[in-house]
Amino acid sequence: MIDWHSLGALHLVLLHVPIGLFVGVLALELALSREKHQEAHDDAIGILLPLCLLTSILTVRFGYALGETDYDWDAIADHRNAGYVFLGALTLALFSFWWSRWRPNMWSGGVYAISLVASLIALILTGHFGGVITHGEDALTDALPEFMKTKPSATTGGGDTPDGVVSGSEPANPYMDEAYAILEKSCIECHGLDKRKGGYRLDVPRLARVGGESNKPGIVSGEPDASELIHRIMLPRDAEGAMPPNKKPALPSEQIDMLRLWIETGAPFPGEENKAEAKLDPEIVKQLEALRELGWATDFTPWSSSKVLVNLSQAELPDWKLCHAKLLPLSSKLVWLNAANQVWPPEFYTDLKDFPQLQRLHLEHSNVTDADLVQLASFKQLNYLNLASTKVTLSGLKTALTLPALTELFIHNLDLKPKDLKQIRVEHPNVAIIGQSTQEVNKPKEK
Ligand code: HEC
Repeated sequence: MIDWHSLGALHLVLLHVPIGLFVGVLALELALSREKHQEAHDDAIGILLPLCLLTSILTVRFGYALGETDYDWDAIADHRNAGYVFLGALTLALFSFWWSRWRPNMWSGGVYAISLVASLIALILTGHFGGVITHGEDALTDALPEFMKTKPSATTGGGDTPDGVVSGSEPANPYMDEAYAILEKSCIECHGLDKRKGGYRLDVPRLARVGGESNKPGIVSGEPDASELIHRIMLPRDAEGAMPPNKKPALPSEQIDMLRLWIETGAPFPGEENKAEAKLDPEIVKQLEALRELGWATDFTPWSSSKVLVNLSQAELPDWKLCHAKLLPLSSKLVWLNAANQVWPPEFYTDLKDFPQLQRLHLEHSNVTDADLVQLASFKQLNYLNLASTKVTLSGLKTALTLPALTELFIHNLDLKPKDLKQIRVEHPNVAIIGQSTQEVNKPKEK
């Protein structure tokens, strides 16, 4: 079996062969008149043309493999299509050449001439679009003398010199949006709030820089080669720790370049221009870091740099006594607690009252019961409560629905009678009671 993907790069070498052969065919057609040198003409073209077609087919096959692994498939569509047209026209040229040898007449000669011209045009277009992929839009105009350029020479294209270094009141980093879009598309599903694979998060700038379990800095501003993120995406695909993991497609090389440029030029994240990070209370930052070292996900909430969220749902069951002691100093800041997926000791539910600022509480897949929910009565701010897949019954839900600020209640997989469910929905029109099935969302009614 041929491993086409690893040979894809050959495309860039091989492509010169059919071009050379094709130019040879054209040159012979122009220089060697068929009337005078019939035999030499037919023999030479009879060899060059099939060779040209053969090497073109190979080049296209390698190009296909290269495009699949290393490029954005849509971005190379023009080049690819023009390449196919060239292959088609060239095939027609070969067959009409054979036809014209067998039956020399106006028809066969005409088709042959037309298909040669079509091949030439397709070849020029293929080369042009190919150049755009490797050298950028301005490749052609950049080569023209100054007075022939239609637009002012842009600084795109080359891209080797990071001329976008943020200084003073410079506009945002020119690579930021694109770089962040790459992370969002390929990485954050595994390195975000919900899944923090390898203890690493990319959705929060500070954590993206700090790094994960390897204890190596994830992003070192200005130094791509010292950044674990770059190291991981540049590892060979089959190496352990290569990112994204090798069942996912590799990042195309131009995306890797983009991430490098972004880090070289300071690696700012969207929304950082206002320096929100600088305003963080260093005392809380320190406390959060200490909690992270215990294996818990902690962070500032997305909407405020003084409110804190703690996620205890992913670690193994934490020692609640220790947790409680560590969380108490944060009690006025803790607004978001994810305590899902755990079998908590009974004290957990009574101790929750020490965090009266809670606005959002995840208890799905936990051992919470109707009796435990009575402890929640003191929460004046709680607006989100998730009780999905627990033993809570109708009576527990009724308790929960007495929370004054509640607007969202999640009840997937609870054992409820449809009649009772309907009843509580009617009684609490301002609470979105969400669940039973994910599709079945009860939107709060308009008043
Ligand atoms: C399918 C899930 C998945 C995706 C997608 C993914 N990763 Fe990972 N990542 C992991 C896992 C699992 C680990 C932990 C194992 C390891 O360190 O190799 C990890 C670890 C890491 C680490 C090391 C953290 C540390 O300090 O230990 C970095 C850096 C990283 N990933 C970057 C990325 C980048 C950049 C992307 C996007 C291009 C990405 N990951 C996409 C699953 C994923």
